[in-house]
Order: sequence, then C-alpha cells, then structure tokens
Amino acid sequence: MQTQVAIIGGGPSGLLLAQLLHRRGIDSIVLERKTKNYVLGRIRAGVLEQGLVRLMEEAGCADRLHAEGFQHDGTLISYGDEMFRIDFKKHTGKPVIVYGQTEVTRDLYEAREQANGLIEFNVENVVINGADTDNPHVTYAVHGEIRRIECDFVAGCDGFHGVSRKTIPTDVRREYEKVYPFGWLGILSKTPPVNHELIYANSPRGFALASMRNESLCRYYIQCSLDDDVEDWSDDAFWEEFKKRIPADQAKQLITGPSIEKSIAPLRSFVTEPMRWGRLFLCGDAAHIVPPTGAKGLNTAASDVHYLYEALRGYYETSSADGIDAYSAKALARVWKTERFSWWFSSLMHRYPGQTAFDHRIQVAELEFLRSNEAAQKAMAENYVGLPY
Ligand code: APR
Ligand code: PHB
Repeated sequence: MQTQVAIIGGGPSGLLLAQLLHRRGIDSIVLERKTKNYVLGRIRAGVLEQGLVRLMEEAGCADRLHAEGFQHDGTLISYGDEMFRIDFKKHTGKPVIVYGQTEVTRDLYEAREQANGLIEFNVENVVINGADTDNPHVTYAVHGEIRRIECDFVAGCDGFHGVSRKTIPTDVRREYEKVYPFGWLGILSKTPPVNHELIYANSPRGFALASMRNESLCRYYIQCSLDDDVEDWSDDAFWEEFKKRIPADQAKQLITGPSIEKSIAPLRSFVTEPMRWGRLFLCGDAAHIVPPTGAKGLNTAASDVHYLYEALRGYYETSSADGIDAYSAKALARVWKTERFSWWFSSLMHRYPGQTAFDHRIQVAELEFLRSNEAAQKAMAENYVGLPY
C-alpha cells in the first residue's frame, strides 16, 4: 500500500490529524492496535480548550460538540470549607467547553468513516522503517498477515506505550520524567453535578475533583495511594471520602449514586525530545504526558496536531519544509508550558506523602494569594483556557 502520511494510533491525536489532512486532500492510513469499541471505551477527561474546538470545526467535526458541549466560564477551587472562583471570561474573554474526550473520539471516528478513510484495527508488530531516510515505510501484521505501507511521512500518535517514540534511537532521544507519589481514583455516576462548574479541592485528606459530562452524568475523583486497589473502594467508601474533601456546603448538596465506571490512574509528567526524527513526527501522548490536574492531555495533543497539520500542508501545498523543520521546537515550546502548569496545579492541590504542616500552610498561602490577586488569577485563567498556539 502507498499513502502520503502513515498515522500510527487511532486515538484522538491520530484521528484528528487524519481528518484535518483529509480535508486538504492529503491521504493517510491510520493503524490502530485495538478495536474501535475498545478505544471508545476509554474514560478520559472532558475539558476542551478553544484551540481544540477550532480544530474540530476545521475538521468538520464540531456539530455535536457545539450542540451537546457545555460552556464553562470559570472553575471553582476549594481548600477546607473555603471556595473561590477563577473567572475565565473576565481574565481571558474565553471559556472552556465540557465535552467528553470519548465523544471527541467518537465524532472523529464517524468523520473518518464518512470520508471512507482507511483505518486498520487490531494491528500488531508495527515497525517504522527508514524514518531517517526519504523513503520510510511501515510494516505490521493483521490476523497474522504481514502488510507494508510506503509513505512520505509517519505520524507517531500511538500514545505513551506505543512504538513511535522508541523508534527514535536512544542516543538521539532525551526523556524527562516525574512520577507522582499518588494516583487518582475516578468514578462515573449517573447523578447530577454537585455544582454547575468543576470544583478542584485541596483538603488535608488529599485532592478531590468534581467534574461532569452532562447534567445527569458526573465524573468525580479523589487522590489515592498508589498501593490502593480499586476493589478496596466501595461506592459508599468513595462518596464518604469525597464528601470530607469538598466544602461542607457542597457536600450537603452532593447527590450520590452507583458507579458505572471506577478506576485508578497513576500520575506522571513526561516529555521526550525531539518530537521529530527524520520523517517521523511524534504527537500527543507518544511524546508527552501530564498529570490530569487542569485537563491538559488532550489539549496539548491538539496543539501538536495543529503544528504538524500546518507543517504537512506547507510541504504538500507550497513545497516548503519550513514547518516540518520547525515542528519539534515549536511543539515542545508549548508542551513545556503546559507541563509546567499541570505540575504547578498538581503541586498546589495534592497532599504529598511526608508533607509537613509547614508545607500545607504554604499551599494554603498560595491558594489565598491566588484568591486575592488579580494577576495570579489571570495567569491561572490564561493557562487553564489554553495558551496560544
Ligand atoms: N500500533 C498501533 N496503535 C497503537 C500502538 C501500536 N504499536 N500502540 C498504541 N496504539 C494506539 C492505542 O491503542 C491508542 O488507541 O494508539 C492510540 C493512542 O491514543 P491515546 O493514548 O489516547 O493518545 P493520543 O491520541 O495522543 O491522545 C492523547 O488522550 O489518552 C488520552 O490522556 C491522553 O488526553 C490525552 C489524549
Ligand atoms: C474529567 O472531567 O474527567 C476531568 C476534568 C478536569 C480535569 C481532569 C479530569 O482536570
């Protein structure tokens, strides 16, 4: 087979890139290790920056997002029984859109099918060959049959556990990592949100987050030990702990219900450099991971896709290599800013093992500074709604 861009990974990064390229008449093939249903079964964050909304519009995939997504003009931050609001509209003039990542992925799959775009599912043994030459090709197996794709470029959109990053030689790659000493226990419940905006809660017992998918489907999290097993947490135990971590007046109005999904996720910050090697370009989780405090995972994948899409358009439409030559540095400049914000927000909101009473008072002092200082709130708002591409 022959294509212009071989895309490894059928998650949001790979699908968004494929659809944007398709709209410009640039051909791609998407190779996905799992099935479509498996991919759509992943529960992920649901806060979209305007940059991602714009890309979905450019991809022709934003109708349902606009119809069903919720505009949020701010977010709530609590510490103990104290709570204050960061007003995005006031400080930036921009909202965020609450719309599940699963729905973003679903919309992109539908667009790919409508475009009769090629996606190979259940692929195995993907190997990226000759990325450092002008004639790369990808080999893989489907049901034991070996296949080969000749291509101009390879987009590594295969997430943290994919093969793309590892294709870059270890003497070329530099990796930066911070593993957090706790996880997030998340549940999905068919209950109305405790508040119409998200609540990020710092409490002496640990972090909690009240989020939502719509008026009757909520996503709640509590910080938990990495030694915890999801079986250790009954729904009742979760709700009791969650109530202790949010302000009492919010806990009183919390409507609990049975979990329809419950899982524990570890937290890490991770960046690999460079994000390009020859004709291989890394996008999204293949290149970087952020702790979910601030919902920057999908939104940073989106800015990578934007830079790579524009670079490939430049190559095919104006025979310019400027965009592809600048891709890695441009993407990393924004990646590191979102890594910083996600690390800062995680450091501010979580209780760290061995944290002293002084450390907690410093967290509270920083929260009170954020609460009282317009410049601090503006900086927080600008990062949360999304730094410019
Ligand atoms: N071959 C083919 N596909 C692969 C391979 C492989 N060797 N390895 C992984 N994949 C697939 C995975 O099954 C997954 O569907 O690549 C896809 C990568 O998708 P994501 O992990 O969702 O990464 P990305 O598309 O960059 O999206 C980033 O989604 O996962 C969240 O937290 C993440 O919000 C962030 C966003
Ligand atoms: C979610 O809705 O799952 C979510 C929202 C905001 C975050 C993380 C997760 O920062």
